[in-house]
Amino acid sequence: MNKAEIVKEVLTERRSVRKFTPVRISDEAIEMIINAALTAPLALGDAQTTHLTAVNDPGLVEEIRNAAMLKSRATGEPVDPFYGAQTFFFVSATDLSEDNIEFCNAGCVIENMIIQATALELGSCYIWGCLKKLKKHPEVIEKLQLPEGYEILSALAVGYRDPDYKCKDRAMMGYSKL
Ligand SMILES: Cc1cc2nc3c(=O)[nH]c(=O)nc-3n(C[C@H](O)[C@H](O)[C@H](O)COP(=O)(O)O)c2cc1C
Repeated sequence: MNKAEIVKEVLTERRSVRKFTPVRISDEAIEMIINAALTAPLALGDAQTTHLTAVNDPGLVEEIRNAAMLKSRATGEPVDPFYGAQTFFFVSATDLSEDNIEFCNAGCVIENMIIQATALELGSCYIWGCLKKLKKHPEVIEKLQLPEGYEILSALAVGYRDPDYKCKDRAMMGYSKL
């Protein structure tokens, strides 16, 4: 397969995984995902104000999960917003500009990590919905040891996809070819 075909295959395989097994991913996989993050495109100068945090420590992972726990709208039951994943990545930034370009940076970093995780045959899911809840726990945020003045903009859960998990049908955005 040539590079274009490999990329096409990885892009086609990529899906949001919302049920992980309890198996931890390897340190080598974490390193590769970090490297993918570090090669993401960032707006000019923003490499200095963007930060990545990889969390694989079991105790900290559980503290984050508990702090970010959501409630099911249907049943009121607690819902794990990280879907049982054992490794989390957080993209944070400081000096947010008026046009919020830092959120675009974070999206690029997360997508690079997702693509690398998929190529490693790992599942992943972009995590956004629970960040507001997580930020209400400064005692947990503090443990992430973000550089002074940084705030989390996006997160990623990575792990092994539970074999029983079925992805939803893929919803495709519209496009025009002019
Ligand atoms: C900016 C952004 C935020 C997202 N936040 C969440 C989230 O908090 N929880 C979640 O389960 N999925 C989240 N997703 C995943 C989307 O729901 C998912 O990409 C979409 O449903 C399409 O499915 P697919 O990724 O399997 O193609 C997010 C995706 C993006 C791009």
